[in-house]
Amino acid sequence: MCGIMGYIGSRDAAGIVIKGLECLEYRGYDSAGIALAEGHKIGISKCVGSVANLKAQLEKCSLNGKMGIGHTRWATHGGVTRENAHPHVDPDGRVVLIHNGIIENFHELGEEFAQKGVRFASETDTEVAAFLISSLYRDDPLLAIREACARLRGAFAFVILFADIADRYYCVRKGPSLVLGAAGGEAFCASDVTALLPYTNNVLFMEDEEIAELSAEGISLYGFDGARKEARLHLVDWDASMTSKGMYPHFMLKEIEEQGNVLRRTLAGRLEGGVINLSAEFPFSDEDARLFRRIHFVACGTSCHASAVAGRLADRYTGLDVRVEAASEYRYGNVVCDEGTLAVFVSQSGETADTLAAARLARIKGARCLAVTNVVSSSLGREVGAVLELRAGPEIGVAATKTFMGQLAALTLLTLWIGKQKGFLVPQKEKRLCAEMARLPLKVEDILAQGEDVRKIAERYQDLSAFLFIGRGISYPVAMEGALKLKEISYVHAEAHAAGEMKHGPIALLDKRMPVVAVAPRDGIYEKTLSSIQESRARKAPIITVASRGDKDIRRFSDDGFFVPETEEELTPFLTVIPLQLFAYHLASILGREIDRPRNLAKSVTVE
Ligand code: G6P
Repeated sequence: MCGIMGYIGSRDAAGIVIKGLECLEYRGYDSAGIALAEGHKIGISKCVGSVANLKAQLEKCSLNGKMGIGHTRWATHGGVTRENAHPHVDPDGRVVLIHNGIIENFHELGEEFAQKGVRFASETDTEVAAFLISSLYRDDPLLAIREACARLRGAFAFVILFADIADRYYCVRKGPSLVLGAAGGEAFCASDVTALLPYTNNVLFMEDEEIAELSAEGISLYGFDGARKEARLHLVDWDASMTSKGMYPHFMLKEIEEQGNVLRRTLAGRLEGGVINLSAEFPFSDEDARLFRRIHFVACGTSCHASAVAGRLADRYTGLDVRVEAASEYRYGNVVCDEGTLAVFVSQSGETADTLAAARLARIKGARCLAVTNVVSSSLGREVGAVLELRAGPEIGVAATKTFMGQLAALTLLTLWIGKQKGFLVPQKEKRLCAEMARLPLKVEDILAQGEDVRKIAERYQDLSAFLFIGRGISYPVAMEGALKLKEISYVHAEAHAAGEMKHGPIALLDKRMPVVAVAPRDGIYEKTLSSIQESRARKAPIITVASRGDKDIRRFSDDGFFVPETEEELTPFLTVIPLQLFAYHLASILGREIDRPRNLAKSVTVE
C-alpha cells in the first residue's frame, strides 16, 4: 500500500516525482505529499485527496529542487488528513521522511519522545521514525538510519532526506518493496518498477534489511550491519507504453481487452507439439514430482480464486491431497506441510504481505515451494527462488483482470504438468486440452467483441443494490471472482455461493430485488446448476446466466444471458469470467464509480 517516488539529478524533481506518483496512485489515494530540496532548504507540500490535487497545489507555490521525494497514502494509522499525509518531519526540521508499511512499536517509542516533551504533529506511526532518526543523527546518516532500524519493529520502506545533505537521499527496506534505478547522472526510487520505466529499464530490487544512498553518481548499497554490498542492476523487459491507458477510458477496460494476448504470451513455448512442456521452468525433478503427496495453493483475493480453479483441476488430475487457502489463514493455521508438499504461492504482484509470510512458513517447514507471479524479481519470487512467470505485463487497475487470466493459464499448465508426471493425465486427454488451450485466445476475443451487449444488460440492473452469484465445481471460483469484481469497483453488495449450498441459507434472501448470477456452462454438473437456477426463479429472483453458446434450455429460465463459446469443461473459467469482469466494469461505469481506484482498496497489500 502507499506509493513512494524519489529523484535526484539535473532535472526539475517535482515533475518527475508527480509523474511517478500518478503512476503509483493505484497503491493508495487518500492523500499525497512531496518534499523538494533546493540546496539545504527543503519545501513540503501535502494535501488530502488525489495526486491531481497535489499537482494543482504545487503549481500555485514556488517549490523547486533537483532532489525530491513524494508519497501517495493509503491510510493505516491515523485518519485521512493533511497532517497525517507524508512527508513527516522531526521537530528540528533535520529529517524529512516518507514511509510505506507499519511500525508496530510506534506507541512505545512515541511515549519516550512524549516524556521528553516532544509534540507530534500527526497521528501516524511514521512520524516517530523521523523523530527517531533525527535523535540519533550526528554527522553520519547511515549510522543514524541503522541505529533507528535496530529499534523499529514492523515493516517499513522509507525514503529520507537530511536537511544538511543536499546531494544524496536514502532508501531503507524492511518488508514493503522499493525499486531503484540509475541512469545518466540521475537516481530514482519507487515502490513499483512501473514508475521507473519512463526513465530506465535498469533497476535494482532492494532486498530486505538494506539501505541505499542515491546521488548523481549512482547507488551505493549497504546491509543493516553497515557492510557495503554490490548494487547490481537488472534489465526488465517491460516498457512505459504498457503502463499508459492509450485510448481506453480506464486501465481496467484496457486490461480486460488484453486478455487474449495475455493468454498467447503465457502459453507461448509452454505448449509445444500438442503437449505441455514446463521442463525448463518446473524446478523439481520428475522423481521429486512423483514423491509429492500434497499440493497447496496459497494466495489472496483474485489470486486465491485462480488458485481455487487450479485446486479443482488438481483434484481431478494429480492424485494429490489438495488444499487451497487464503494466505492470511494459512500462515496462522497449523498446516501439515513437509518435504512431500508442493506449496504454490500465487500473487500477481509478488508483494502481498500475507502470501510472503505464508511462503516463509512453508519453506521453514520443509515444503518444496514455487511462486506463480507476474513479477519474477518481486519479494515473493526472491523468497521462494523458483518462479513460474505469468507474463501478463504490468497491471495498473486495482481490480485484477488480466493477471487472473494469466494465473488461470499458468496454473492450468502447472497442474496438468504435475498430473502428467504423476501419470494421471493420459496423453489423449493432454492432447485434447492442449489443442483447446491454443484456441482460447481467439475465443476470449470473440467474447470481448460483444462487450457492448454486456453494458446494455448492466443498464437494466443499475438500480439494484445486491447480487448473488452461484456456480458449481470449477464454476464456483468463477462466481466468487465475479462477485468480488462487482463489489470492489461498483460498491454494490455481491456474494458468491456454491450453487448446491443455496438451500442452506442464501435462498432466504431471494426476491425480485435480488438477482442471481449463475455461472452455468455445459459441463458434467450443468443440470444440477440448472436446478438451482429454477429454484431461484421460483422465488422471483431475476436470473442472469453465463452459459455456453447454443444452450437453448437455459434461455428459457434466464431474464438475461451472456453466452460464451463451447470449450473443454476444465477450461470454461477462461471464458465464463470475462462477461462477469465486463458486467462489473459497466455497472461501475454506469454508477459513476472511480473504476481504476476503488475506495478503500489498494493494488498491493504490503501490510498485514
Ligand atoms: C489486493 C488487490 C487484489 C489482489 C490481491 C492479491 O487486494 O486489490 O486485486 O487480488 O491484493 O494481490 P496479489 O498481488 O498477491 O495477487
